[in-house]
Amino acid sequence: VPLRNLNTFGINANAKEYCNIATEDYLKKVLTDNAQKSLFILGGGSNMLLTRDINALVLHINLKGIEVIENHENHVIVKAMAGENWHDFVLWCISNNYGGVENLSLIPGNVGTAPIQNIGAYGVELKDTLVSCTAVHIKNKTTQVFSNEECRFGYRESVFKNELKGEFIVTSVNFKLTTSNHKINIDYGAIKQELKAHNIEDPSIKDISNAVITIRKSKLPDPKVIGNSGSFFKNPVISQSHYKELQNNFEDIPSYQISETEIKIPAGWLIEKAGFKGKRFGNYGVHNKQALVLVNYGNAKGSDIYDLAKLIQKTVLRLFEINIETEVNII
Ligand code: EPU
Repeated sequence: VPLRNLNTFGINANAKEYCNIATEDYLKKVLTDNAQKSLFILGGGSNMLLTRDINALVLHINLKGIEVIENHENHVIVKAMAGENWHDFVLWCISNNYGGVENLSLIPGNVGTAPIQNIGAYGVELKDTLVSCTAVHIKNKTTQVFSNEECRFGYRESVFKNELKGEFIVTSVNFKLTTSNHKINIDYGAIKQELKAHNIEDPSIKDISNAVITIRKSKLPDPKVIGNSGSFFKNPVISQSHYKELQNNFEDIPSYQISETEIKIPAGWLIEKAGFKGKRFGNYGVHNKQALVLVNYGNAKGSDIYDLAKLIQKTVLRLFEINIETEVNII
């Protein structure tokens, strides 16, 4: 079964077997009937690089539905099923005037995969609105609820990527979203600038969503046009002393203080300084507007892109003594 249209990198790889999962009951039946097989769980396919064929049964999680399950004075609890497209969900929230996810507009992928890496952008992370999520235990076929705390969220991290890796399939997410007094977050410089350019002083959640959409479109390639998985690497965290050393050689090094002793450096800057920004190697390369994004111009092999990623890591390590970890799952 070809997977090309099921991964945003647009890599041509095949699955041994494929199964479309549209209900939770069917999911449990498939898990029971195929208990002996190796499984591969596929959501929006937006955070993986396929470097080989999948010698497993691919379960494509297509559970659909969005509903308000609780109404409160200033907020609602909304339940969204895992197979809903993330951005469509955000637009649904905005059209209903439910606030909290507007900064996360246009992030590729599905609702069900959002908690796995705690998607984040422009000062907001999924963990800020997620109340809980439900997940099916692959071996026991039981459904379990995970509170926000139990998800153990961190920067692009959760329990599902770590301690419970490969054990659960997220089936739905509950969000707490504001219906009035929206908590507007426009601290991110680019958002401020974009709002200012349109003379918007008191932005609505729709204004913020529109600003984020404009910013993302200007920096990040549309996966429908150029295959990619967003940020390929995570932004590394280094010590204060290491940062001071680097500053001696690179005066303009951008940084965000994250604790008294730790500094986060944008990996995009490191990769640009290393000379990779906009570099093209035949049918793959590094995006010209955001060096953190590796791209497939068409028909690239996943293994070629992975080799490029390793070359970038090696070069950044040599130049800055910084290890940049991949954010994308390498398959
Ligand atoms: N920069 C460069 N060259 C580049 C790219 C970035 O010098 O080619 C430097 C600039 O100094 C820029 C700074 O990096 O000001 C920050 O760049 P940007 O605002 O684009 O953010 P980022 O740190 O590169 C992170 C997330 C993005 C998210 C943006 C906005 C990670 C790994 N990436 O990127 O998330 O959209 O912030 O919040 O944390 C994703 O995860 O797929 C993703 C796109």
